[in-house]
Amino acid sequence: MLGLVGLGLAGCGTRARSQAVAGQAVTGQAPAAGDGLGVLARSRGISFGTAVQGELLGRDPVYAAAVTAEAQLLVPEWEAKWDALQPREGEFDFGPLGIVASFAQAQRKQLRGHALVWHQAMPDWLAPALAEGPARARAVMAAHVEGVLGATQPVIRDWDVVNEVLANPPGSRFTEQTPARGIFRDTPWLRALGPDYIELALRLARERDRTLRLTLNDYGLEGDTPWAEQKRQAMLSLVRALLAARCPLDAVGLQAHLQVDEPFRPEPLAGFIQALRGMGLSVLITELDVREGANLPPGLEARDAVVAAYVQQVVGTALAAGCRTVLTWGLSDRDSWLLRDPDVVRRDGQQHRGHPLDAEFRRKAMWQALARSFAGG
Ligand code: G3I
Repeated sequence: MLGLVGLGLAGCGTRARSQAVAGQAVTGQAPAAGDGLGVLARSRGISFGTAVQGELLGRDPVYAAAVTAEAQLLVPEWEAKWDALQPREGEFDFGPLGIVASFAQAQRKQLRGHALVWHQAMPDWLAPALAEGPARARAVMAAHVEGVLGATQPVIRDWDVVNEVLANPPGSRFTEQTPARGIFRDTPWLRALGPDYIELALRLARERDRTLRLTLNDYGLEGDTPWAEQKRQAMLSLVRALLAARCPLDAVGLQAHLQVDEPFRPEPLAGFIQALRGMGLSVLITELDVREGANLPPGLEARDAVVAAYVQQVVGTALAAGCRTVLTWGLSDRDSWLLRDPDVVRRDGQQHRGHPLDAEFRRKAMWQALARSFAGG
């Protein structure tokens, strides 16, 4: 197995956990005109970053230049998921992740991992293996955690260890309906191990790497709706149970795949973040982007203004409540999953404009909204 260390990447990003992952040390340096979002954020002790694709970093200089200019923290969009890392049982492939890690090292960017245990991006062999029973499922999870953390330890100090474990409450028009068992999403992991798979993944990660920041990541937690509130309460009860069991957990990631049609009020999100921080956890925004609504105002400028205002409300609320890490799920409208995934693409032939840069990598109103949020505006 050629791990990342084998690629000569040892050393990149290996800062102490406290510095690299709990937000940037405040530089005190006043940002210069034209500085990217990462520099603006860092001047306020905030880490800003984005999801990247190694293939684009390698073949698209405009894409790579935008990532270099705007982001301090990178997360592989798919290269650190199970289907990319262990496509066949026991055969690890760190090639695609190595491309992202090499770029991060060359550009002195930090790198976070996403996602060790998830019900999507599963290679064909995995679900049948989990269905063989709990002992096999435990062994499969342990081997993946061992193999991945062993190879990535020098370059990744922060992982979404478990992703999207909660079911979406029924009735929401803002989140997909999901099969559920109580508060939990019904997945091959839940069926194999029950809810304990969450604690098992976290304990395996901590045992393998004692200084790693362990994050529980989920979506649909930001809006002012009965469903988002129900999911927030489910997350709080899960976190309380994990901490009561002395399960290692350092952070909760709010994916923040926002939708401008979803009502928002600062208080519910602020209270949720403060409750998590009151339990000693960090809170990150991990996958920020925005789906536009059904009734678009005429003209790109007006559309962008609606998106920007919504982003500033949500991100401003999260930062005021103590969030210190904000990542978008891509920088430019051009490469977004919002243009690819049939469940979220616009039905009217228009394309979502939910990222800081437009398809030509020009800064948009959302970029300004993030800059203002970082400046405390
Ligand atoms: O192009 C590569 C190919 O070279 C490679 O061999 C192959 C390996 O699987 O992957 C191909 O890329 C595709 C990738 O998107 C880049 O477009 C993958 O096939 C495809 O599965 C992958 O989909 C990603 C999806 O998660 C599933 O992993 C999306 O990019 C990514 O945006 C999406 O991100 C998720 C978060 O992880 C969790 N939260 C929701 C978010 C949006 O669905």
